[in-house]
Parts: sequence; C-alpha cells; structure tokens
Amino acid sequence: MFCKRLNILILLSLIVPVYAAAGDAGVQAAPNGLELPEGYKDWPVISISHRIDNHTLRVIFGNDIAIKAARAGQTNPWPDGAILGKVVWKETAKENWPKAIAPKEFVHAEFMFKDTKAYKTNGTGWQWARWVGMEQKPFGKNAEFSKVCISCHTPVKSSDWVFTTPAQLP
Ligand code: HEC
Repeated sequence: MFCKRLNILILLSLIVPVYAAAGDAGVQAAPNGLELPEGYKDWPVISISHRIDNHTLRVIFGNDIAIKAARAGQTNPWPDGAILGKVVWKETAKENWPKAIAPKEFVHAEFMFKDTKAYKTNGTGWQWARWVGMEQKPFGKNAEFSKVCISCHTPVKSSDWVFTTPAQLP
C-alpha cells in the first residue's frame, strides 16, 4: 500500500512539471496572429525602466538578433528578425531592504517584432502584441489593437519606433 502511494507520488512529480511547461505553449495567439515568443523569460536584458506615475517596474529585453544589434549599437533601424520585449510589474518596497523597490504582481508582457515587409500594413515595420496578466491573455478585441501601441510610440518614430536606448555596459 505504502509502496503504491509512493509510486503515485513519484509519477505525479514527473507529470506536473511537464504540464507546467506545456502551459506556456498553450497561450492563445494575439488577435493579429502573433504567437507569444517561446523562451522569452530567458532572454537577455537591454535596459530597465521605472514608471513613477503608475508605480511599475519594467525590463526591456530581446531575442538573439536584437541583443546582437543592441550590443553592437546598431539599433536605428533594428534589423529584421529582431524581437523586443517588455515585462511590467507593479512595484513594492523591498521586504528586506526598504530603501529599494522591487517587482511584485506581474502586469503584462509585450513585444515588437521587426519585419519590414509588414511596413505597408501598419506603417512602422514592426508587428505588435501584448499578453496580459499571469494567465497571459492576448490584448485587444481584433487586429486593430496595435493602433493603440503605434500612437503612443509615434513620438519615437525617428528612433525606429523604439523608446529604449540599450543601457551602458563596460
Ligand atoms: C502610453 C504609451 C504607450 C502605449 C499605449 C504602448 N507603449 Fe510600448 N512603450 C512605451 C514607453 C514609454 C516605452 C519605454 C519603456 C518604458 O519606460 O516603459 C515602451 C516600450 C515598449 C517596448 C520596448 C521597446 C521600446 O520601445 O522601448 C515594447 C516591446 C513595447 N513598448 C510594446 C508595446 C506594445 C505591443 C503596445 C501595444 C499593445 C505598446 N507598447 C503600447 C509607451 C507605450
């Protein structure tokens, strides 16, 4: 009996991580058909930002092509195939060091996919997508949602629609 229970436990411990990993791939595509980039949680960082009006912390990161361009200072324009990502968290006082702030609730992850062929469609050369909350729900009712992204990014049109300058590194 004990042995059987142990077997079930071992079996469960094997099954659960597989399910957790499958959850990521099961995220619904954005209304414009873009898929949540696989493995984005492990991408290298380009910069960070702290929004003081709504108390959120942001990390801006990129795929291999974006990181190569960022490190080489070749970011205007960003190369085709580059994906820039941004993850936003609500801020909190750091528990064990209250002089600092730390990330708390996950707000959303959003992405810009460089593809100059898409230029004719939306005028930016980027495709846009956002997934909201821990459940990673696609943002927007239909493909028109990217107008919201584009209008706010318009002031930085001359830097290839990108706000972030890669943070200095030695
Ligand atoms: C209210 C204005 C605003 C809206 C709306 C907006 N953004 Fe941004 N976005 C910014 C700012 C400002 C930054 C610079 C980083 C920071 O401080 O958060 C940024 C940064 C980004 C970045 C990192 C690259 C960069 O430009 O620095 C991505 C990716 C991004 N936004 C995607 C999106 C997507 C996708 C949408 C629409 C679903 C969107 N944004 C809507 C203001 C906006």
